Amino acid sequence: MKIFIDTAEVKAIREYADIGIVDGVTTNPSLIAQSGRKFEDVVKEICQIVDGPISAEAISTVAEEMIPEAYRLAEIHRNIVVKIPMTAEGLKTVKAVSASGIKTNVTLVFSASQALLAAKAGATYVSPFVGRLDDISQEGMGLIQEIVDIYANYQFETQLLVASIRNPLHFVDAARMGAHAATVPPAVLGQLLRHPLTDLGVEKFLKDWATVPK
Ligand code: E4P
Repeated sequence: MKIFIDTAEVKAIREYADIGIVDGVTTNPSLIAQSGRKFEDVVKEICQIVDGPISAEAISTVAEEMIPEAYRLAEIHRNIVVKIPMTAEGLKTVKAVSASGIKTNVTLVFSASQALLAAKAGATYVSPFVGRLDDISQEGMGLIQEIVDIYANYQFETQLLVASIRNPLHFVDAARMGAHAATVPPAVLGQLLRHPLTDLGVEKFLKDWATVPK
């Protein structure tokens, strides 16, 4: 499973990219706003840090504006994946731009029917938001299993990118279900790495090592 980092904070991206566990990056307008920086500046810097798919979101709402916006975003860097909302206008855009080789990530997906329609439109990635479904008492990971089943029935090439991950269980369940990728906020990436027994084990080995005659 590919691991993407879900942030526009370049310090965090550098930290986890240096460890070697980051295959790509996802951003959205809220994350860009949190960075406090200009959109193009931050996206260009991210493209210098990670050599993998970098999602940058279109903010137009109608296809006739979203299509040229998608072309503009794709010109920023060869690794840009244009993030497009799961709306009728968004699907028109995906169909139009994917025909000319632009990679897309259909975002704000909350149902299996939306995921199926996005795949039929030619999306490169589809992003179901599991945490936001959990927030409204609907089991987010249940949706992931539905999409895995549907995509396998029809051999779609669209990659399932599990988004809105809030904890390590979401991540592990996504891997068990065979999702192609998961996008994970920096704090949860830290939780994936650490285990208290690992820390205790290292501490004890070092303590015992100090008693070995030199
Ligand atoms: C995905 O691409 C989104 O940026 C993100 O996962 C949304 O997560 P949130 O629901 O925690 O805001």
